[in-house]
Amino acid sequence: MAFAAFASGMAEAALLVLLAHIALTIGSPEAAGLSGGVGPFGQLNLPIRASFGVALALVTTRAVFSLWSASIASGLTARLTADCRAGAFADFTAASWAAQSQRGEAELTDLFQRHVSRATTSIAPLSQGFGAACTLLALVTAAFVLDPVSAALLVAAGAVLFAAMRPFGALAKRLARRQVEAGREYASLCLEAVATSLEMRSFGVGSQVSDRLAESTDREVSPQRMAMFLKQVVTTTYQTATVLLLLGGLFAVYALIDRPLATLGAIVVILVRSLNQATAVQAAYHSLSENAPFIVNLDRERAALRESAPERGSAQVHEPGPFRFHHVSYSYGGTSTALTDVSFEVEPGEAIGIIGPSGSGKSTLIQLLLRLRWPDTGSYLIGETDTADIDDESWYSRIAFVPQESRLISATVADNIAFYRPTVTTHDIQSAAKRAYIHDEIMGLPHGYDTVLDQRGGGLSGGQRQRICIARAMVRRPSLLVLDEPTSALDLRSEALVHETFTELKGEVTLFAIAHRLSTLNSCDRIMVMGDGRLQAFGTRAELQASSPFYRQALKLSRIRIDVDG
Ligand SMILES: Nc1ncnc2c1ncn2[C@@H]1O[C@H](COP(=O)(O)OP(=O)(O)OP(=O)(O)O)[C@@H](O)[C@H]1O
Ligand SMILES: [Mg+2]
Repeated sequence: MAFAAFASGMAEAALLVLLAHIALTIGSPEAAGLSGGVGPFGQLNLPIRASFGVALALVTTRAVFSLWSASIASGLTARLTADCRAGAFADFTAASWAAQSQRGEAELTDLFQRHVSRATTSIAPLSQGFGAACTLLALVTAAFVLDPVSAALLVAAGAVLFAAMRPFGALAKRLARRQVEAGREYASLCLEAVATSLEMRSFGVGSQVSDRLAESTDREVSPQRMAMFLKQVVTTTYQTATVLLLLGGLFAVYALIDRPLATLGAIVVILVRSLNQATAVQAAYHSLSENAPFIVNLDRERAALRESAPERGSAQVHEPGPFRFHHVSYSYGGTSTALTDVSFEVEPGEAIGIIGPSGSGKSTLIQLLLRLRWPDTGSYLIGETDTADIDDESWYSRIAFVPQESRLISATVADNIAFYRPTVTTHDIQSAAKRAYIHDEIMGLPHGYDTVLDQRGGGLSGGQRQRICIARAMVRRPSLLVLDEPTSALDLRSEALVHETFTELKGEVTLFAIAHRLSTLNSCDRIMVMGDGRLQAFGTRAELQASSPFYRQALKLSRIRIDVDG
């Protein structure tokens, strides 16, 4: 790109000198003869017809190099934009769940969208600025060939001017840092408003939410407005100052140093063209200053995400052995203790219910079971293999999770069940849907399995969404199935049917389920009672009934619903 831009600049400089030579030769052939023409063309004594031919060749050369340079620049911009997006998302997907969940939805959306877009919008002015710098260098070189003294004076003045503009760059950075903060706050408020739109409507507080968004917008647009104005101030100041410098310099050259008028004319046109290039360089510098906080932030966040990535193991899970927690403790951020010294062993094929009051560590426990978080102390083994050593592919092909909140993607029902897993077949999808008792309802949709859903599951009830998520979990016949209250949104009939499926799965799948309903507990072989981050009791219902005072208390505190059975 540097070569193409420099060559284009050289062709342009030569063309400008040649134009001056042609103008002098046409306007005053005698003067041209006396002064020897302008620059190298004068020395070559180029006849007027040949001059036109050379000019045509130079115009073509300049256009070719200029287009070549522009094509490289646009290709570079597109590639860097794509790389930056893909890289940021790859860092996110490789990061640990602890790092992923620590960042809010708004923060991440802002990082992937605004930050990436601001970071990559600097690429265009940067590549243009780089091209302009090369062209500028070529033009200045030509000016030096023609008249070193005038050229040196103007280059020095340009450098002083560039340095004088630096404080503007610092101010642009400060304004951009304010925009980083304000923009994130706005993104967060928007997401929150969308997520709580049902509450917003039912409490009739739409205008208050709008006011809060408007205040946040003000905080973002005010530095934005100043930044835009600053950009204009910088460009205008720079152009005005350079023109003034040019005029002053020319006057000095004219008054103090004796120069042939034609040479002076050629230098003038070259320097005027240089002005444009110098302005582009300055604009690139300013744009970089403006976007620097976004680039720095993006870089820092990406590095933090990369550093959090768990080490990859290589062991394969062949036969699902017993699941063993051995004195496992876990605390959030090293301070808030959520699990203390938890030990248990669960045989493959067992169905385990987890109960305990709110905040007792149930969700934390299943996140460790799913290898989403890692024990601070103690170990988690499958058979004799430490789960930290297990290869990711081998792990993911054997586990499945049904979260409490069923989240759908904007895709067809079939794609929602397959959920990005390329090896899942149509047969797998349909048999999973049948096991989750959602097949008949899917067939009743306008396009069956090809009906497109949106993230909010438009057209589906909460219970239907939940059964789609259950089908999603069962599609690859996992050997470990973890459920965060699998039937909370189901009506009594669907719930009974889904429990029938869980009963059918017994022995085939190891199942852990956080239970909020007695019916879920009834499908379980053994029950874990969590309290204060500790495993207070673990046994069959009959054992716990007899031996565990925690059990009854935990049932009560867990707000277990007994409306199905009782
Ligand atoms: N992301 C987090 N950062 C810091 N502390 C957390 C985080 N998530 C949970 N905790 C804390 O860890 C403890 C256990 O939380 P956990 O979510 O495991 O409880 P739970 O039994 O699932 O509760 P619930 O029934 O209300 O869902 C609680 O004291 C909670 O405040
Ligand atoms: Mg929970």
